[in-house]
Amino acid sequence: MSSDYQYREAMLDWLEQFAQEIRGIDANYPEKDSILEGAEALNARLHERGAFDPEYFYQAEKDAEELYSRYLQVTQRANENERNRQQSSLKSVPVGGHKLPRLPYSYDALEPHIQRRIMELHHQKHHQSYVDGLNKAEKELETQRRKGKFENIKHWERELAFHGAGHYLHTLFWQAMSPDGGGKPKGRLAEQMTRDFGGFDAFKAQFSEAADKVEGGGWAILVWASRSGRLEILTAEKHQNLSQWDVIPLLPLDVWEHAYYLQYENDRREYINNWWNVVHWPHVEERFQTATAVLWSPLV
Ligand SMILES: [Fe+2]
Repeated sequence: MSSDYQYREAMLDWLEQFAQEIRGIDANYPEKDSILEGAEALNARLHERGAFDPEYFYQAEKDAEELYSRYLQVTQRANENERNRQQSSLKSVPVGGHKLPRLPYSYDALEPHIQRRIMELHHQKHHQSYVDGLNKAEKELETQRRKGKFENIKHWERELAFHGAGHYLHTLFWQAMSPDGGGKPKGRLAEQMTRDFGGFDAFKAQFSEAADKVEGGGWAILVWASRSGRLEILTAEKHQNLSQWDVIPLLPLDVWEHAYYLQYENDRREYINNWWNVVHWPHVEERFQTATAVLWSPLV
C-alpha cells in the first residue's frame, strides 16, 4: 500500500470523524450546518478522486484546515454561552427567594459588648422580617409585571427599598463584626483613611458623631464613593432614606434601638463606643479591595 494511498485514507477517516463531531455540537448555529456541508462535500470529492494528485490534495488539506478553524470558533462560542448561562443562574437569587443568612459566629460571641439576647432578636426576628418583606415585595411586583397592571406601586416600591436595604445592610453588619474584632484597619484602607479623613482617629470621631446624631432608627455607613474615588461617611434614616445609590457599603453600624436598647437603654453613644471593639476589619479590608476594583467613568 503506497504512502499516498494511506494519506488519502487517513484524511477521509479524519473528515468522517470531524463530521460526526460537528453533528454532536449541542447548539443551534447557522455556521454548524455550513461547516458540516463543507466537510461532507470535501469527503465526497476525495472519494471520487481515485488517483493521488498532490496539488489536489494540498488544496483539500487547506480546505479542511479552514473548516476546522471555523469549527473551533463555533465550539468556543458554544462553551462561552454555556459558561455564561451557568454563571448567571448561579449569581442571581430567584425572585422572592432571599434567605436569612447564618451568623458567622454564635449569638453570644460578641459579649460583653453586645448581649446574646439582642443578637437573637436582631437576627431571628428583625432581620428575618426584612427578608420576608423583601420576598413579598418582589413577588407582588413580579405578579403585577406579569399582569401588566400596577396597583399601589408607590407602596410596593417603598417596601422593596425598605426591606431590601434592611436585608442587605444587616447582612453586611453581621459580617463586619467579629469576637476577635477591634483595633484599627491596616494596608490600603488605612492609607486611604489618612488621605480622606486625616487618619483613623479623625475617621472614627466623625463616624461615631454621625451615628450618634442619626434621627430615629438608621445607620452610619463607611462607603467607597467610586465616582469621586474617595472614602465617605454617610448616614441613612431608617434603611434607605438619604442613602446614595452609587456607592458600595463597606462598614455599616446599626443604630436602631433594637440593636442596643436591651443592654444600653438610651445610651446609644456607649453602645457605639463599645461596638468598635467588635469591628471585623479584615472583612472590611476585603470588601474595600473588591469595591475599589469597580471603576466607573468619569472618576471625577
Ligand atoms: Fe437592625
